[in-house]
Amino acid sequence: MDKHPLVREILYTKEDIEKTTKKLAEKIELFFRQQSKTSGELVLLGLLKGCIPFMAKFMEYFKYDCETEYMVVSTYFGSLKSSGIPKITLDLNISVKDKTVLILEDIIESGVTLKYIKEYLQLKGAKEVKVATLLDKKINRKVEFQPDWYGFSVKKGFLVGFGLDYQEKLRNLPYIGYLDEKKAKEWVWEKEVK
Ligand code: IMP
Ligand code: MG
Repeated sequence: MDKHPLVREILYTKEDIEKTTKKLAEKIELFFRQQSKTSGELVLLGLLKGCIPFMAKFMEYFKYDCETEYMVVSTYFGSLKSSGIPKITLDLNISVKDKTVLILEDIIESGVTLKYIKEYLQLKGAKEVKVATLLDKKINRKVEFQPDWYGFSVKKGFLVGFGLDYQEKLRNLPYIGYLDEKKAKEWVWEKEVK
């Protein structure tokens, strides 16, 4: 597979991601089918922008009737370090009152973002809030937070691709890999020549 020059090593291929996301979607679908109390009132809530490829893949295999909604919450500002204070820049456009919300996230690291959003949705009257993340980076947790489901458990290192960005770029890689942090420091993005 062609590797972007800023990727040191590919961690999960397109095929790995497809297989894991399918399994995850089927498992979660079964969970909701068995839990009849949600009775159709389910909202899939994607956290932009990172959720896009994961959510699209997840929805291909998730057959339970649901609404879809999105929020933009930033804690990272396109850099390697989190600012630590989540900020909602795109809020809900639908009511979540008395509904079950399944949040779909690309990666959980400190847990600060998800803890904040979960509490926010509960304040908005959600009946139940569940969290599914493609990647869980437990090692950097700053607050106590566990997702209900995760695809892969990852160790240290800054990841890019399949929704994960470095300086708002590289989200469009079809795989997930480790950023070459040394190279990234001196990297100049190519500009379109007119
Ligand atoms: P946290 O759990 O509040 O620290 O925030 C998680 C958010 O930080 C994710 O939604 C990503 O946007 C970003 N993030 C965390 N780890 C990485 C990474 O390895 N690569 C790219 N973005 C990351
Ligand atoms: Mg994110």
